[in-house]
Amino acid sequence: MSHAAVHKVLLQPIGLEMDVEEGETVLDAAFRQGIALMHGCKEGQCGSCKSRLIDGDIELLKYSTFALPDYESETGHVLLCRTHVFSDCAVELLNFDEDLLAHAIAVKSFAGRIKGIKALTGDIRLLEINLDAPLKFWAGQYVDLTLPGHGITRAFSMANRPDGGTALQFIIKSYPNGAFSGLLDGQLQAGEPVIAKGPYGSCFRRENRKGPMLLVGGGSGMSPLWSILSDHIASGEQRPVRFFYGARTKADLFYLDELAAIAAKLQDFEFIPALSAAPDSDHWQGETGFIHDVVARRLRAEALSGSLDAYACGPVPMIDALLPVLQMSNVEPEHIHFDKFTPATR
Ligand SMILES: Cc1cc2nc3c(=O)[nH]c(=O)nc-3n(C[C@H](O)[C@H](O)[C@H](O)COP(=O)(O)OP(=O)(O)OC[C@H]3O[C@@H](n4cnc5c(N)ncnc54)[C@H](O)[C@@H]3O)c2cc1C
Ligand code: FES
Repeated sequence: MSHAAVHKVLLQPIGLEMDVEEGETVLDAAFRQGIALMHGCKEGQCGSCKSRLIDGDIELLKYSTFALPDYESETGHVLLCRTHVFSDCAVELLNFDEDLLAHAIAVKSFAGRIKGIKALTGDIRLLEINLDAPLKFWAGQYVDLTLPGHGITRAFSMANRPDGGTALQFIIKSYPNGAFSGLLDGQLQAGEPVIAKGPYGSCFRRENRKGPMLLVGGGSGMSPLWSILSDHIASGEQRPVRFFYGARTKADLFYLDELAAIAAKLQDFEFIPALSAAPDSDHWQGETGFIHDVVARRLRAEALSGSLDAYACGPVPMIDALLPVLQMSNVEPEHIHFDKFTPATR
């Protein structure tokens, strides 16, 4: 029986050494061994895992030059989710988060079945699954969901809070031609097998923070934010919460009754929906335009005191437009947590 060659990879500046097998990426090796390095998409699309190769023989799988432009690859930068090693190596982590390392949960696969699917709006679905065993995760994290019957895997963020149970919920935007989401309207039935592999993601709720919490999302970006908000409520912590949510029209808003009930329960909570394409017939009185502009306006108008935490999830252009707004609003970079819902590579 032949075994894959194993190499040592030294992670600096934390001084941690780990094994990486030939045939697996450095990031996957870390997940397997319960070492949580900074990451987002795991597919060479987002740039969150960018690091600098100090020494060693490596090869990069295909990636997007948005994540790693040529001038960076020419200066020894690599994406750990795309890096295979062929010798012992040393790597400098450009982004690392002590909190993330301390919260690592080893990634595993869990078998389960679809419990049900329901429509929340014209194109947003709630997918519920039951696993055979509980999957431990932090509020805001995601799994890779595989439909073995259809040979398709996509990343989806849990919408429920981690409660130690085997039931998971996901808020999913349905694309008519989507290989996964397109199956949610009639093709997938209760009882169909699924595999959830995880947990992944660095945009999870940080506990025991005192200052205001900003939640910013658009579309199915609600999914991890709903988990974070539910987990915050269950924790009993009290801090100001501002939840900014971008949608096109009134018909694209959902969970409004639940949000009103939350506002009644928390001491200082405001849900701020903003519509970007409301027709006159919506008679919309609330915020309009893009969510990053609304966040900028509101943060200028309301001086929230204390050190802010921000959690942002949703489409890539939304996050890209929001990050500079948060930085200019004095949210410290280490307190900005986000997940870009990058499209899957084909
Ligand atoms: C970390 C992470 C977390 C995620 N969490 C969620 C989540 O909680 N809920 C959720 O709904 N999605 C989430 N996604 C996105 C999800 O993984 C899929 O990419 C998405 O559901 C589309 O997959 P699909 O197979 O249906 O479409 P595909 O077959 O991959 O794409 C088909 C067509 O759909 C359109 N499309 C697909 N994705 C996008 C996009 N992102 N933006 C614009 N157009 C697109 C394009 O026209 C594309 O050609 C997440 C992604 C990442 C990386
Ligand atoms: S580019 Fe590596 S995690 Fe997104």
